[in-house]
Amino acid sequence: DRGLPPYSHELAWPEGLEPFKVVDDGSQGDPYAHYAWMRENAPVLRAHSPVSDVWFLSRFDDVRKAMRAPKVFSSQVVDPVPLTFLTLFDAPNHTRLRQVVAQAFTPKAIARFEDRIRDNANLYLDRMIARGGGDAVDDYAIPLSMSTISALLDVPAADFEKMKFWSDETFSYFGRLARNAPGTGTDEQSTFEFFAYLQDTMERLYAEANESVGGHIARMWKEGLLSEKEAKELCAFVFVAGHDTTTILLANAFRMYSEQPDLLARIRQSPEDANLFVEELARYRGTVQRVSRITTEEVEVAGVTIPKGAIVRLLPAAANRDSAKYPDGEQFDIDRDTSGHLGFGHGVHACLGAPLARLETRVTVELLAARLGSLALDPHQSIEYVRGNNLTNSGPEHLHVVLEKSN
Ligand code: HEM
Repeated sequence: DRGLPPYSHELAWPEGLEPFKVVDDGSQGDPYAHYAWMRENAPVLRAHSPVSDVWFLSRFDDVRKAMRAPKVFSSQVVDPVPLTFLTLFDAPNHTRLRQVVAQAFTPKAIARFEDRIRDNANLYLDRMIARGGGDAVDDYAIPLSMSTISALLDVPAADFEKMKFWSDETFSYFGRLARNAPGTGTDEQSTFEFFAYLQDTMERLYAEANESVGGHIARMWKEGLLSEKEAKELCAFVFVAGHDTTTILLANAFRMYSEQPDLLARIRQSPEDANLFVEELARYRGTVQRVSRITTEEVEVAGVTIPKGAIVRLLPAAANRDSAKYPDGEQFDIDRDTSGHLGFGHGVHACLGAPLARLETRVTVELLAARLGSLALDPHQSIEYVRGNNLTNSGPEHLHVVLEKSN
């Protein structure tokens, strides 16, 4: 270990902070205090995992640079890549697959969803307002994210529950593969059931000449640009990449209104500022905490030498609060310049679904302001972060809120 920095558990963490863990077991559901300490004291942090060391980068410049250097910070953390998940591929395969999927994510294709998203969002909000509140995750964010992502594949509402189960299981399976963790539960079996369902769905979409994202992928398959395996796994990936991520961001929009209640009146008066809210939310309390890379050569970051073949987890949510880039980075301020934030990634792997996620969040931010007189967290409930063992995302599992409609 000569010349290598100490491990996370060997560092003198301040009182109240456990050493940072490779896999969050839920205790680090709100990891921002850890991030602040890491940026300051251990911008390249090394931790043990059962299979190898893992290195964490937390400063804005370091994370951004790594995202811009895919040859050194490869995405192919699992070799061979077992599933056609875009985030696990490097060029040239990544370039080919991404091009095919990207064609379905045109601004026009995304804009078509706005009315449907607004109608659904109003419906979920009607129910919450009628009851004086509820769980922003279960009663709003999950249904809105599920109904929207399901529209991308044009699956019937009757299948939503099944889809959500499969999608969560696939996410867990995917996370396990990405960290080389052994299989234990049922997630592998469910993942393959999901793929089979998606294959049937694609057959239907193709036969209907369906215009959805799923229909596009199905056509690419039938025209020979994608194999059958690639096509169904890409459909699953779009679903998995876009569901939980969006759910968390939507729930966090409720949370920010509860923390800064004046914003309700501000957005009600100036709905065009909803976009500012969305970008600041994605910077300040975004969803994606960790994205994985593997070094293809020895590389120096912030004066520390990371060896070749090291698993590196970039922490975009930590980078986004770096005051070297965003002054007073720990403050939520919708009037700040948020440009360049890494909440949707950066570089060749930048999020393809970001326009859709932004649209859902903007509609939510607008509607909450237009319809609510007040929004507060339920004082009798605390925020639960039980996304234990989730490699990528962090956010509330439940967020109980009390709502009053505007006069
Ligand atoms: C990739 C974040 C919603 C589809 C990514 C990456 C991030 C991200 C950080 C980069 C991963 C990396 O560099 O390894 C988010 C957040 C979302 C969101 C925070 C919601 C708030 C969506 C939605 C979709 C989607 C709604 C699809 C409908 C994708 C795809 C990629 C991706 C296909 C892979 C791109 C590639 O590897 O080339 N996302 N995402 N995402 N996201 Fe999203």
